Amino acid sequence: MTEKVVLAYSGGLDTSVAIPYLAEQLDAEVIAVAIDVGQGGEDMAEIKARALGCGAVAAEVIDAREEFAAEYCFPAVYANALYMDRYPLVSALSRPLIVKHLVAAAEKHGATIVSHGCTGKGNDQVRFEAGLAALAPHLKIVAPARDFAWTRDKAIAFAEEKQLPIDVTKKSPYSIDQNLWGRAVETGFLEDIWNGPIEDIYSYSDNPAEPRDADEVIITFMSGKPVALDGVKKSAFDLIHELNERAGAQGIGRIDMVEDRLVGIKSREVYESPAGITLIAAHMELENVTIEREQARFKRHVDQRWGELVYDGLWFSPLKDSLEAFIEDTQAHVTGEVRLTLHAGKATVTGRRSETSLYDFDLATYDEGDAFDQSNARGFVELWSLPSKLAAARNERAKIEGK
Ligand code: ARG
Repeated sequence: MTEKVVLAYSGGLDTSVAIPYLAEQLDAEVIAVAIDVGQGGEDMAEIKARALGCGAVAAEVIDAREEFAAEYCFPAVYANALYMDRYPLVSALSRPLIVKHLVAAAEKHGATIVSHGCTGKGNDQVRFEAGLAALAPHLKIVAPARDFAWTRDKAIAFAEEKQLPIDVTKKSPYSIDQNLWGRAVETGFLEDIWNGPIEDIYSYSDNPAEPRDADEVIITFMSGKPVALDGVKKSAFDLIHELNERAGAQGIGRIDMVEDRLVGIKSREVYESPAGITLIAAHMELENVTIEREQARFKRHVDQRWGELVYDGLWFSPLKDSLEAFIEDTQAHVTGEVRLTLHAGKATVTGRRSETSLYDFDLATYDEGDAFDQSNARGFVELWSLPSKLAAARNERAKIEGK
C-alpha cells in the first residue's frame, strides 16, 4: 500500500511545489492540510483548490481561528509572554496548534509521514518536531527544505517543469509569517542589522509618526481573560481582531529586534502585534492592582520561563503544564477593567478599576484621615535594615583589623 504524507500547507510557492516533489521522492500520496490561524489573505477555498491542482490526493482546510485565539493567544496574555522582554511569540504560538491538527489529519487519513516546509536554521522546525514527538512519536518526519536541500530556485524550476498552477513570479524579498497574534518579517535587506525597516514591510499597523487623533479603549478581563472591549462582549477571535484594527491604526506593536534563536544563531526580525502588545500592557496593569506582591514577584519569573519554553518549542511539555497550573491559580482575581489611550505607537494605561482590587485608597492616600498607622513604620524599618547594619559594622571592623 502506498504511504501517505500529511503536509502542513500554506498555499504559497514552497509548500505547493512540495506536493508533487514529496509524492515523487517518497513514492507516496500527499494530503495537504491548511490551517486558518487568522493570517488573512487568500480565501481558504482557493488554497484548497491549489493543493489539489498540484496533485494532492486530498486537501483539508481547517478554521482554527477561535481555537487559536482562546487556547494559544490568551494563555500568552495570562503569562504576559514577551520573549527577550519584547517578542509576543507570534509564530511560536501557532506551531503547536498546527501540529495538533496535523496529527488529527494523519490519524484520519492513515498517514505515516508528516511534512513541513521549515528550513534547518530556524525555530519552527523544532516547534513542529518537538510537538510531534510529544503527540505522535510514531509518525516519521520529512522536511524537504532541510532534508533534501530543497531551495526556492529548485522549487521554481520544478514548478515550471511540472506546469503547476502557481504563479512563480510572486516572489517577496522577505520571509513572512503572520497570524491573528501578529506578523513576523525577516530576510532581504533586513539581514543587515544596521538597515532600518522601511514603511513597506508593515501591514498590520500604520505609521506611528503620522498625525492622527488618539483612540481610547476599555478592556474588560475576567480571571485574566479578555472578554469585552468598551463594555461589549466579544469572542476571543473578534476581540483580538478588533483590537488589531484599532491599535494598528495608531501604529502600536511594531518591534524591530535581534533575537536569540534556539539553534544558536542571532537573527533580526521585525514584528507587528498591535493587539498583543495592547492586551499584555492592559493585563499586566490589572495584575499590578489585583495580585499580591510576593505572588506577583514570583510570577514574573514564571512568565519569563513560560515564554522561553514556548519559544523553544516545548508547548507540550511537563514544565509548561506545571507553570500553567501556577499561572492559572494567580488569575483568580484578575478581574476588572483597564482603560488605555492608543496613540502615536503607544498603548498607555490611564485607568484601572476592579472589585477584586488590592488597592486600598484609605491606606494609600496622603490626604487627611488615612488608615495607615505610620507609627508602625519605625520599628519595621529598624528590623528590616538590621542585617545590612550588622554586615556593614562587621566590614568596618575587618577593615580596621586589616583582614
Ligand atoms: N523569529 C520568529 C520565531 O522564531 C519568527 C519565525 C518565522 N519568521 C518568518 N519571518 N518567517 O518565532
